[in-house]
Amino acid sequence: MRKPFVAGNWKMNLDLVRARELVAGIRGGLGTDADCRRVDVAVCPPSVYLFPVANELVGSGIALGAQDVYPEPKGAFTGEVSAEMIKDAGAQYVIIGHSERRHTIGHLEDDRMINLKVKAAGAAGLTPILCVGETIGERKRGQTLEVLTFQLVAGMTGVSAEIAERIVIAYEPVWAIGTGEVATPDQAQEAHAHLRGELRKLVGDQADQTRIQYGGSVKPDNAADLFGQPDVDGGLIGGASLKADDFVAIISAALATVQR
Ligand code: 13P
Repeated sequence: MRKPFVAGNWKMNLDLVRARELVAGIRGGLGTDADCRRVDVAVCPPSVYLFPVANELVGSGIALGAQDVYPEPKGAFTGEVSAEMIKDAGAQYVIIGHSERRHTIGHLEDDRMINLKVKAAGAAGLTPILCVGETIGERKRGQTLEVLTFQLVAGMTGVSAEIAERIVIAYEPVWAIGTGEVATPDQAQEAHAHLRGELRKLVGDQADQTRIQYGGSVKPDNAADLFGQPDVDGGLIGGASLKADDFVAIISAALATVQR
């Protein structure tokens, strides 16, 4: 039985005051930390807010994640942050290969760099959340499963068994991110089942324990149907994770799948 995992990717949003208010709202909404024992919950603020948000999370059962990492341990890499630094700031998770980093931001990130980041984050003891997903063009051309296989295999190349034991995969169809256009539960299940099958070729039975999150326009009103799919183990939430009530409602939808 896989424990569902719901993580909020705040992207480049909020200021410190609002970040603190959001954490307080989520804590208030969850009530006790009991919910966090049956569903793993994390928030991923911008890197400059990792430290202060870590302080707000103390005693909550909610974990902290970063949104990116640089693969080198130290050196002349202006503006970058290492895995050890992220760990020092109190984070347990790090999102790697998010579609905005693959397709939108600056010098676009390729699968080789993503693989280096997965290995560096894992070696430092962080849990990588490896994001994969097809563009709308790739879906229309019938290449979805092929793209997912390529990104998964490339991201996992050379990853040790120890890291493979805790890595989290996030299926985030690019066309569903921030668009309000969500994958149908069937589309999500097809992609997740495919990813699990491909993962099995890489890591054997461990694939049955690996959490595969869905991300892309998850909202309180569609979370239950998505999380109800057999291979969907929670979500990576963007916009809806910036509103405490919505994020808590999405966590509740994940909780309902373990209470059945
Ligand atoms: P939205 O939930 O805003 O579509 O973003 C999803 C996402 O990119 C999470 O990483």
